[in-house]
Amino acid sequence: MTILALETSCDESAAAILQGDTHPPALLASLISSQIDLHRAYGGVVPELASRNHALRLHPLVAQTLDAAGLSIHDIDAFAATRGPGLASSLLVGHSMAKALALASGKPFLSVNHMEGHLLSPFIESDAAPPPHLALVVSGGHTLLIHVEGTGQYKRLGTTIDDAAGEAFDKVGRLLGLPYPGGPEIERLAKDGDPAAYAFPRSTPGDLDFSFSGLKTAVLYTTQKLDDPSQHTADLAASFQAAVLDVLVSRTIAAARRAGVKLVSLSGGVSCNKALRHALAQACAAAGLDFHPCSSSLSTDNAAMIGYAAWLHLRQGDSSSLSEDIDPNLPLVATS
Ligand code: KG4
Ligand code: ZN
Repeated sequence: MTILALETSCDESAAAILQGDTHPPALLASLISSQIDLHRAYGGVVPELASRNHALRLHPLVAQTLDAAGLSIHDIDAFAATRGPGLASSLLVGHSMAKALALASGKPFLSVNHMEGHLLSPFIESDAAPPPHLALVVSGGHTLLIHVEGTGQYKRLGTTIDDAAGEAFDKVGRLLGLPYPGGPEIERLAKDGDPAAYAFPRSTPGDLDFSFSGLKTAVLYTTQKLDDPSQHTADLAASFQAAVLDVLVSRTIAAARRAGVKLVSLSGGVSCNKALRHALAQACAAAGLDFHPCSSSLSTDNAAMIGYAAWLHLRQGDSSSLSEDIDPNLPLVATS
């Protein structure tokens, strides 16, 4: 089974090829054409610019990915693409291209939830398919605690009631005058700062949910009171990051206990953050839980994770109709 997967949910055009009949499939190629530099000038992603660039870049990217894998388009057995969540006009580019390739070749099409891609990505190189576990998925748009019971069987135990963790990093980055995206910039600055310099709030709304908008406002008020905030960015970044990590880690351990599982996984763009990986690894060890983070190279948006989710679904007999539409607000779990 050889799958070609496309990912165009936001500002990265990505294509990947996975091959194999037993777990794990071999990742033959995974290419990303990033538009971050184009959007940086605007301080965030501009949807029309993103979709037009996907349309320009995707075709040559697919050709390069096939070349890198040493395959031709005729060797592909199934085509996959991200259905949502994401920017509508961006999603349409990759989704329509994968549907067109499936239509022309008569091969199966798989329409994949972007968050399911992130969720499953820690297991791409594992010997076995994802076992039942607790997943923390932290990206630019989502903060999810999911009890994974099997492929496609997900129970949501917690989510954010306002900003996502990555969104909070990006907004605080903008507030501190840092380039987009703020997450990696804040992590870099935080290394030289004092995490106890400012006592930012650790908001813990009902049950296992998250809230980051009060924290962002607390950073804003603190900077407004400083004579020259630019002299304190490292301490502000370190104190902000410590507050985000505290709640992410404590709620993840609580959710794992609630789910009664022995394993915790970590994925999504924010999982690039080494301080988060380290803090969660330590907390899991202290709680007697195994910890399985996504590899850093697959943490931010990529098509390998979309191909892997498609591969797991195909293996259990799932496929999508060519009349499947994109869904910019596609939830991972219908109800909590
Ligand atoms: O998963 P992703 O690539 O795209 C979405 O599906 O949203 O996540 C992007 C998010 C951005 O908010 C970015 O600031 C954040 O991940 N991010 C980080 C780091 N690297 C990326 N946040 C904190 N620390 C990082 N090192
Ligand atoms: Zn993502």
